[in-house]
Amino acid sequence: MTEQTLFIVKPDGVERKLVGDIISKFEHKGFSILKLKMFTFTKQMAEEFYAAHNTKPFFGELVSFITSGNVVAAIVEGNNAIATTRLMIGSTKSFDAAPGTIRGDFGLGISDNIIHASDSKESFEKEIAVVFK
Ligand code: CMP
Repeated sequence: MTEQTLFIVKPDGVERKLVGDIISKFEHKGFSILKLKMFTFTKQMAEEFYAAHNTKPFFGELVSFITSGNVVAAIVEGNNAIATTRLMIGSTKSFDAAPGTIRGDFGLGISDNIIHASDSKESFEKEIAVVFK
């Protein structure tokens, strides 16, 4: 089923010049890039974007990290996009993520885990309302 999803290369991924490699992986997999945008999250945008986590102990750290530098957001389209993109990015804790996944190949961090991707259609709709409004 053709779907759309959102991924965001986080400030650590941009700083480490991984944007091209990451976009390549999605293109090589067969996804079409529908929208692409570089920007910096404001605190207000970050709090809205990560609202589902606002009671978690790491919420402050999460907002502080995602607002710390430029990010690159992309809307991609393809078969089974939401679940396949989650498989491609790997587990949240990069040190635990399987080799071959983006986090597994490129990182070791938790806040600094290189990439975010929507985990459901509902999250995708909420997230693009913040990022591409
Ligand atoms: P992301 O996919 O962007 O969604 C929520 C983010 O919260 C997650 O990636 C991590 O970067 C971050 N996160 C999850 N668990 C922790 C934690 N225990 N400590 C700090 N950050 C966390």
